[in-house]
Amino acid sequence: MPEEVVERLIVSPSGTYLDATCGFGGHTEIILKQLNSDGKVVAMDQDQDAINFVKDKFINQSKLKIIKGRFGNLKEILESNDLNFKFSGILADLGMSSFQIGDHRRCQKAFKIKTETAPCHKNISSNQNLHQPGNRSVGDISEL
Ligand SMILES: C[S@@+](CC[C@H](N)C(=O)[O-])C[C@H]1O[C@@H](n2cnc3c(N)ncnc32)[C@H](O)[C@@H]1O
Repeated sequence: MPEEVVERLIVSPSGTYLDATCGFGGHTEIILKQLNSDGKVVAMDQDQDAINFVKDKFINQSKLKIIKGRFGNLKEILESNDLNFKFSGILADLGMSSFQIGDHRRCQKAFKIKTETAPCHKNISSNQNLHQPGNRSVGDISEL
């Protein structure tokens, strides 16, 4: 399934693609494999754990730019870092990774869940406090 999604995403192997919810890099990896030396992927996620994982996974990958932040803030993040990308395709794999669902520490922090075993039904950034709906992190940017 991820392969089929990426197959439809790639319109040119030299394009620049946004993986707006890169998670642990599954789709990012497949996109990277489809690109030639001019192609680029911008991988973004709001979750610091996912960003850390992806940085390790793709160490020394010159075709990849990794951004921590919410995709709703992408324009501001790119502008404030003087980055100018024109995307050939954008992928947003919305939802949660199994790692995030299973992390009770985050659920308890975000929802103030008292039980030890309640599953997490909503994806959250490890820093995000959902009790303040207007609270949006600006996000920081980093490169490999
Ligand atoms: C289903 S996972 C993505 C899995 C990924 N495609 C992969 O192959 O590993 C969804 C991801 O979206 C991220 N996410 C959810 N809302 C976001 C937002 N507004 N901005 C950036 N990332 C977000 C979550 O942190 C989570 O890592």
